[in-house]
Amino acid sequence: MPQPFFRTDSVTDGLQGGYTGFRTESGPGSIDSFFPGSVFRKERNAGDGVQVFIMTIFVASDIHGSASSCASMIEAFHREQADRMILLGDLLYHGPRNDLPEGYDPKKVIDLLNGLDTPVYCVRGNCEAEVDQMVLNFPVMADYALFPYGDRMVFVTHGHVFNNGHLPPLRKGDILLHGHTHLPAWEEHEDYWYLNPGSASIPKNGTPKGYMLLDGKNVIWKTLEGEEYHRICLG
Ligand SMILES: [Fe+2]
Repeated sequence: MPQPFFRTDSVTDGLQGGYTGFRTESGPGSIDSFFPGSVFRKERNAGDGVQVFIMTIFVASDIHGSASSCASMIEAFHREQADRMILLGDLLYHGPRNDLPEGYDPKKVIDLLNGLDTPVYCVRGNCEAEVDQMVLNFPVMADYALFPYGDRMVFVTHGHVFNNGHLPPLRKGDILLHGHTHLPAWEEHEDYWYLNPGSASIPKNGTPKGYMLLDGKNVIWKTLEGEEYHRICLG
């Protein structure tokens, strides 16, 4: 059976840095046999009989009820052929501090998100009300989530509770990932990285509506139209 791994620099796959994914022997009994229709469909030929399957994670935040932005975001998710979607909260309501975003239609956003044929992982924003969980078919009330990324831990949250001014438990090199500010961020602090995809619908300070990708090594920021405007390597 394929074994999960969370770093590859000790594996003879010729790749540098940390990757999150699965590896398996090539040939008969390939990954598709183990995971029919697998999301682990990306591979690199390592030349030593080991195939590496890398998951692309799509991250977006602060849709704030804009159906048009939500539709563009979903289009981007499919265009990127991403494997998982993480939303950082503030899905349905515009919020009292914001003007109504273009295409404001929370009911349509509900339909769009519930209609996704991919798992959606979401944390609770400061605009989420309990009724939101009654109308959305994926969990939206978690204060935070964690996942390993290479040899780092990613702490996922909305940002109104845990942020640079109030850090969650982190170890050196870990990643604090949140939305809330509507400002994209890729800040390297002494002990951690702070990353933010910006807002998909109400960007601030002249930043673009956009999203973020984690491809196992790089973190990439793109506009909703798919234009890359920043990239860092965390390998
Ligand atoms: Fe927000």
